[in-house]
Amino acid sequence: MVKVLMVCLGNICRSPLAEGILKSKMSSENVIVDSAGTAAYHIGNLPDSRSIEIAKKHGIDITPQRARAFLVSDFKSFDYIFVMDRSNYNNIISLAENSSEIAKVKMILNELHAGDNLEVPDPYYGGNGGFENVYQLLDASCDIIAKKITN
Ligand code: 4NP
Repeated sequence: MVKVLMVCLGNICRSPLAEGILKSKMSSENVIVDSAGTAAYHIGNLPDSRSIEIAKKHGIDITPQRARAFLVSDFKSFDYIFVMDRSNYNNIISLAENSSEIAKVKMILNELHAGDNLEVPDPYYGGNGGFENVYQLLDASCDIIAKKITN
């Protein structure tokens, strides 16, 4: 069983989509997928209504999800920790206790463009093509992640 954690800032826009998309591509017999935020503002909340809508448009229901904050214990619970941007990366890395924990943390778009450290834009304030753009970036990345995990 492979365990994957998707991380963004609020755990209401990007990482809930990443969680829902990867789950949709994999059998729950093979993988556990969860998501978390580096900030605590939205703990217990549903995903942002715009993320719920864009997921629904693509046939994915993310409404069972509730936001939670990243925990230091997640380093032990998960095999892969995919972050959306550099700020998430730096925040998570600062909590790691050793190099094997640091090695679990990856910028999710490096699955598509290895080594480029591209960011999934934060759609919360309405910039950079918004939620459909985020969906497409995460869908393409999760295709690759799903193939890697099943191989
Ligand atoms: P997310 O988006 O990190 O993709 O969930 C955000 C959600 C909330 C805030 C910022 C980004 N916020 O500032 O409350």
